[in-house]
Amino acid sequence: MQHNTMISEEIGRIYNEHFGAQDLIVRSPGRINLIGEHTDYNMGFVLPAAIDKAIYMAIGKRNDQQIHLYAGDLGESYETSLQGLKKSGRHWPDYILGVVDEFTKAGYTLNGFNAVVMGDVPLGAGLSSSAAVECVTAFALNELFGLGIDKKAMVQFSQRAENEFVGMKCGIMDQFASMFGKKEHVIRLDCRSLEYAYMPFETTDISILLFDTGVKHSLASSEYNTRRLECEEGVSIIHQKYPSVQSLRDADAAMVEECLSQGNQTIYRRCRFMVDEIQRVQDACNDLVNHDLASFGKKMYATHDGLSKMYEVSCPEADGLVDMVRNNSNVLGARMMGGGFGGCTINIVKKGAEKELAENTAEQYRKRFNLELKTYVVAIDNGTSVVA
Ligand code: GLA
Repeated sequence: MQHNTMISEEIGRIYNEHFGAQDLIVRSPGRINLIGEHTDYNMGFVLPAAIDKAIYMAIGKRNDQQIHLYAGDLGESYETSLQGLKKSGRHWPDYILGVVDEFTKAGYTLNGFNAVVMGDVPLGAGLSSSAAVECVTAFALNELFGLGIDKKAMVQFSQRAENEFVGMKCGIMDQFASMFGKKEHVIRLDCRSLEYAYMPFETTDISILLFDTGVKHSLASSEYNTRRLECEEGVSIIHQKYPSVQSLRDADAAMVEECLSQGNQTIYRRCRFMVDEIQRVQDACNDLVNHDLASFGKKMYATHDGLSKMYEVSCPEADGLVDMVRNNSNVLGARMMGGGFGGCTINIVKKGAEKELAENTAEQYRKRFNLELKTYVVAIDNGTSVVA
């Protein structure tokens, strides 16, 4: 909380320096995901939570149609206008402009504005800093111009901004978690109906420790889009025999065996992992209800192994980090988290063991990969809101 107050004071000061007095400051957090990976675009379940690291936006109205942006952490400016919206050719402005574009296309009337963005979500670490930028923008514009858009619709606009404007065909998990996060709770989200339930995530005896591989393999976004296509191909084959199957959510292991096991083995492996994973999230939720974190943790390892061997979205660094803790009795569960090809692993660790585990793992990681390991203990926090 201390740190958050510091960022909102700092961003206010920076806004003032660049643009004068701001109208409001909004915060939108990064996310973790306990279990259920790549299930969102297959219409399955996910179990994410918002964290105590966030992106902030200070924003104010202008009297013209101009959009003036400043990224506080990078010290970079970008200027455009509502009429001239196009890809910036840079990275960060597109997440903001994409949301503006979606709002405009949906018929909402905006005016020019100034905005500063900055925060403490590590960039490129798989904690969804980009979704946080989209959600902070949607929320801030909605407040600033009194658009009356509800939170679910803001999530959908944010996802579309990333799909259309940025060109990454992500599912809905990251934006949903950022917007709807709740302190000390995980969100059980049904990505088909968008129905959701908050489940208490008790952290009296455990900590959530993230290990940042520090790598982001260049395959990440192209392979992500390929996985989507592979799953769709599997669905279209199953659909011929079972017309009610519209997504892998509607299929089960028996259907996958029957329709896909004799065909293209890549498609088979992707789909087999996916139907198992969709089921695993539901079973893992029962573990939480039964306060059985040991069983929950075993499922995290199973998810990792499937992501690594069947879905093939892991990387040597993430596999190595999971293997380093696998037989450690202080670690209840661990797995790669997010889209894959780098980013963080998530570890459920017995309280008190965090420091030693982080130090030991960092040493092994240095020896094996010649890389410095960054580690973060994260707390589960509230979703997007106005802070000032
Ligand atoms: C990325 C995407 C999400 C989700 C995860 C994998 O974070 O943005 O929509 O698909 O990968 O679970």
